Amino acid sequence: MGQLFELEWLGGATEHFFRRARPDASTVPWGTIDTSRYSPELLAAVRQSWTEVSMNEYRAAASFAELVRALIEAMAPLDMIGMASDFLADEVLHTELAARVAMELGGAAPLEVDMDRFAVRADRSLSARQRANELMVRVCCIGEAFAAGMGVPALKLDSLPMIKRINEIIMADEARHQRLGALYLEWTADEWDAEEKARLSRVVEHAIGGLRTFWSGTPSAVVDGVTARGLRVEHLHELGWLESARAMPLAREVAQGLLTPLERHGVTIGSETRASLFG
Ligand SMILES: [Fe+2]
Ligand SMILES: [Fe+2]
Repeated sequence: MGQLFELEWLGGATEHFFRRARPDASTVPWGTIDTSRYSPELLAAVRQSWTEVSMNEYRAAASFAELVRALIEAMAPLDMIGMASDFLADEVLHTELAARVAMELGGAAPLEVDMDRFAVRADRSLSARQRANELMVRVCCIGEAFAAGMGVPALKLDSLPMIKRINEIIMADEARHQRLGALYLEWTADEWDAEEKARLSRVVEHAIGGLRTFWSGTPSAVVDGVTARGLRVEHLHELGWLESARAMPLAREVAQGLLTPLERHGVTIGSETRASLFG
C-alpha cells in the first residue's frame, strides 16, 4: 500500500554517531538561498525534483542493503563487501542533503511510495552468485552509473554555493558507487557461462527500459533563456537543474554508454532491442 514519503530525524546520540560516520553535511552553506528571486512555478518544480532525488537516494540505500546481503551470501571478496557496505551511509547522507534542499526551497513535495515494492529485491530462487550478479548489474552498472553520468554536467553549472557543495559531495560518492560495478565485473565476469550472460542481458534490457522516461518525449524548447514552461534556465541552473533540452539527450547518451563495459564482458543486447530502447 502507498504511503507518504516522509523522513524522520531523531537527533542526539544517533545524529552524533551518524555525523561521525559522515561529517560532510556541516560543510554545506545552509540557509543561503534567497527564494524571493524565483517564481512560485520554478520553486514548485525544483522542490518536486529535489524531493524525488531524496526518494531516489533513499531507494539507493535500500538497494545497497540488498546488494550487500547478496554479496555476503555469495561469499564475494571481503574487501569488496566492506567497500559496498560503506555506500549505505553515503546514500543515507544523500537522502538527507536532498531533503534539506527541498526544505530550504519551501518544503518537500508530497510523494507516495509503496515500501513493499520500493527497491530491488533479490529473487531467492536464484543461486547466491546469480543474485549478486543481477543486483550488481542493476544497482551499480546501470543505476549508479546512470546517476553518476547524469550528475557530471550539473557540477559545471553556475549553481548557488549550497547546491554546488551538495552536488560535489554526492557526485564524489556516486563515482565510487559506479566503480564497484566495474570492479565486480573484473573479478567474476570471466566465469559467467552463456546462459548467465543471456540472463544478465535480459536484466540489462529491463533496467535500461526503466530509465527510458528520462529521454522519451519532447524536451521543452528554450527561447531567450526561458523554457516552454516559462522557467528561466539561469534560475534552473542556480538551483542545480539542467533544462530538459539538455537533460534528455544527455540521458540517452549516458544510458547507451552504460552498455559498453557490459558488452566487453559478454552481456549484450540485440540491435533491435537497442533501437527500441533508444529510438
Ligand atoms: Fe546517492
Ligand atoms: Fe549512489
